[in-house]
Amino acid sequence: MPAYVVMGAQWGDEGKGKIVDVLAEEMDFVVRFQGGANAGHTVIHGDTKYVTHLIPSGIISGNSINIIGNGCVVNPTALYEEMEKLRQQGITISPDKFIVSSAAHMVLPIHQYLDRVLNEKIGTTVRGIGPAYTDKVQRTGIRWERACDGSSEEAYREHLDFVEKVYAIVEKEEIKVLRNDIPELVKTVERLKPFVQDVRPLLAQAVKENSKILFEGAQGTFLDIDHGTYPFVTSSNTSIGGAYTGSGVFLNFDKRVAIVKSYTTRVGEGPFPTELFDETGETLRRNGNEYGATTGRPRRCGWLDLALLKQSCIINGFNYIVFSKVSCLSGFETLKVAVDYASDGSPVYQELPGWEEDILGYTDYDALPENCRRYIEFVEDFLGVSIGIVSTGPDRDHIIERHPIFIS
Ligand code: IMP
Repeated sequence: MPAYVVMGAQWGDEGKGKIVDVLAEEMDFVVRFQGGANAGHTVIHGDTKYVTHLIPSGIISGNSINIIGNGCVVNPTALYEEMEKLRQQGITISPDKFIVSSAAHMVLPIHQYLDRVLNEKIGTTVRGIGPAYTDKVQRTGIRWERACDGSSEEAYREHLDFVEKVYAIVEKEEIKVLRNDIPELVKTVERLKPFVQDVRPLLAQAVKENSKILFEGAQGTFLDIDHGTYPFVTSSNTSIGGAYTGSGVFLNFDKRVAIVKSYTTRVGEGPFPTELFDETGETLRRNGNEYGATTGRPRRCGWLDLALLKQSCIINGFNYIVFSKVSCLSGFETLKVAVDYASDGSPVYQELPGWEEDILGYTDYDALPENCRRYIEFVEDFLGVSIGIVSTGPDRDHIIERHPIFIS
């Protein structure tokens, strides 16, 4: 059974959307298993740019069934707006092609409010992700099944009563506004009801029938609630374990694909050993257009951190790497990669010679400058995982496929 999982190996924004899109075209199922509208996946088809936050990227090619698993947190209004936007771009979204697990949790306006007032020091996306997962773990969350059994209005009212009691931080006036907004929320959820079901039997059947399945990770390994740079993390398991808890099926993933950006970026607060605060960091940001797809925030930029990536390979068992945004590294005289950390935590660098040539859109590995190939092969040797694809630009065709990604 051809089963793939694609995950970000660093702090997110590695360029998963493009590879997922290429894979998704051939899949029967594409599954999101964690996170919510904090993610932003950009897919470019010709002149058209699509940005998805919640809906699996497979919806764009339209060939697969796209599932939001139980491990996700889904804001009804954000979902509805995303669907409308994609429809305006000509994408068909129907209940036979897009399904939300009835066991996924809802993100409500109160969660967004709490995220704003409680989580400032993390630098979150303010999409209410942390507070929604808090409610899930606290067992006070609202699952999408409440949309199906018609009890969502009652659930929202009870939930606000609970929040009012527990969080002195929430202003009375805010609760009043949120209560008044409940009918509108119920209306939105009603519209989404046809898309909600228990997805576990469907996925179990898909596995049994040897369907082609792709699990699409969001964010990156070091934003994982357990394995990331806690507390500067997101609130879900972004690493491989999340694929299982967030979907409800066991799959022996044939391809465990790491998307590795050829340098490092991070949004929000938290440790970042190879961060650059100088002109070099600025150049990386400019070359890579490093601004958040969800929030527009400038991303922090730095050298590639192989010591960190080694850990990522251990956590996820990667057996295939997509090395992205290599074309953004042209023009540096030398490139540094962190291979270890000193006792004070600062990175130990190895320097590699850079290259001048613009390699945007290259599709032939042998045509790459020698130093570019040396950089790629150094990374591959260090991590002990083969770099199957080198991505040389934003377009779908800007790809060098060194080893086939599809299982024949
Ligand atoms: P939250 O997921 O909104 O709670 O944010 C927690 C941390 O994860 C913050 O540092 C965010 O910037 C970061 N984060 C969340 N989603 C993404 C993403 O898709 N890409 C990169 N960083 C993200």
